[in-house]
This record gives sequence, structure tokens and C-alpha cells, in this order.
Amino acid sequence: MGNIVYREPTVDDAEEIVAFYNRVGGETTYLSFEKDEYPLDVEGSRASIKDTAKSPNNYMLLALDDNRIIGIGTISSSWKIKSRHCGELGIVVENAHQGQGIGSEIIRRLIEWCRGNGITTRIQLDTRCDNELAVKLYQKFGFQIEGRLPNTTLLDGKYYDLYVMGLMLEEM
Ligand SMILES: CC(C)(COP(=O)(O)OP(=O)(O)OC[C@H]1O[C@@H](n2cnc3c(N)ncnc32)[C@H](O)[C@@H]1OP(=O)(O)O)[C@@H](O)C(=O)NCCC(=O)NCCS
Repeated sequence: MGNIVYREPTVDDAEEIVAFYNRVGGETTYLSFEKDEYPLDVEGSRASIKDTAKSPNNYMLLALDDNRIIGIGTISSSWKIKSRHCGELGIVVENAHQGQGIGSEIIRRLIEWCRGNGITTRIQLDTRCDNELAVKLYQKFGFQIEGRLPNTTLLDGKYYDLYVMGLMLEEM
């Protein structure tokens, strides 16, 4: 395995980003979308990359191994005045590259970016309560469990709860 490179996407990455999300959607049940259920097509992804680059409180970070996308982290925020300080964190690392510190590095960089953008003071996310590895990973960075949304995931006839987790940047 070569060195992992972390960088923001350009529009030329759109096709691989969509393929990556559609693929990893089938690798885990912990993502909100299934295989081939990623909501954007390549055109949509191109537009989103452009919008994100222009936005002060939206961010996407790619992790690449040998020029191939192996992980993606995102911060998604509203433009609304009362809630634009809240950034929703999303992260996925492909199965073959998990457990190598890449997820931790992506989160570290997302938090650093939020601290520097002049707007974000709170990072939030939701994660399945049984995704113990992810919950522990977020707690390592100071995220707290703030609430529990019962029965919000329905998978193979079984209901699962989501934790709402949050990190206030001002307090740290
Ligand atoms: C959650 C996720 C992003 C973590 O990425 P990662 O690259 O594996 O993270 P890291 O390598 O930094 O590992 C994080 C911690 O989990 C531990 N870990 C990772 N994989 C593990 C495994 N297979 N078995 C045991 N521990 C493991 C690491 O030791 C590390 O612990 P530490 O912080 O005490 O050192 C990744 O597992 C993933 O994409 N999962 C599927 C999608 C998902 O759940 N996304 C989050 C939805 S909210």
C-alpha cells in the first residue's frame, strides 16, 4: 500500500465519487444508502463539487491510495442564518482499507477544516447505535451522544435506533 493522499475533489473526480459511494453502499449496512442508492448521478456530483468549493461551510475530502478513492469525508451545512453553524459529518472508508487509521485522519482533518472556516461551531451526525466502532471513533474526537431516535432504520424486518452525536467546537 502506498501513501494515502488527502485532497479536495475536482469535477474530474465526479464519476469515481459516484461509483465509490454506490459500491460502498453495498459493503456495509451502516450507511444510510444501499448499493447503487447514492442519490447523485455524475452530473449531480459535478454540480455538488462546484457548489461545495464555493461554499464556506460545506466540504468534501477524498482519501486516495495510488490515485484511487478509498475513503470520503464530508461536512454538509445549510445556508440558513440560524443553522449554518451546524455541520453534518459523513464518512466512509472502503472495507479493504479500514483499521489503518484513515477514518481517524479524515475526521481529524474535517474538524480542523470546520475550526478554520469561521462559521461552523457545531459538528453533528447520526449513527446506528449498534455501530460500536463508529460510536467509539466519534467519542475519541470528543463527540457526545445527545439523543436516541428509536426505530429510524428498518433493515430486513428489524428496527434499529440512531444516536444523534454532537461536538461543540467552541468548548474545546
Ligand atoms: C467508521 C469508519 C469510517 C472508520 O474508518 P477506519 O479507517 O476503519 O478508522 P480507523 O482505522 O481510524 O479506526 C478507528 C478505530 O476503530 C478501530 N478499528 C477499525 N477497524 C477495526 C476492526 N475491523 N476491528 C477492530 N477495531 C477496528 C481502530 O483500531 C481504531 O481504534 P482507535 O481509535 O482506538 O485506534 C469505517 O469503519 C467505515 O467506513 N465503516 C462503514 C461506514 C460507516 O459506518 N460510516 C459511519 C456511519 S455514521
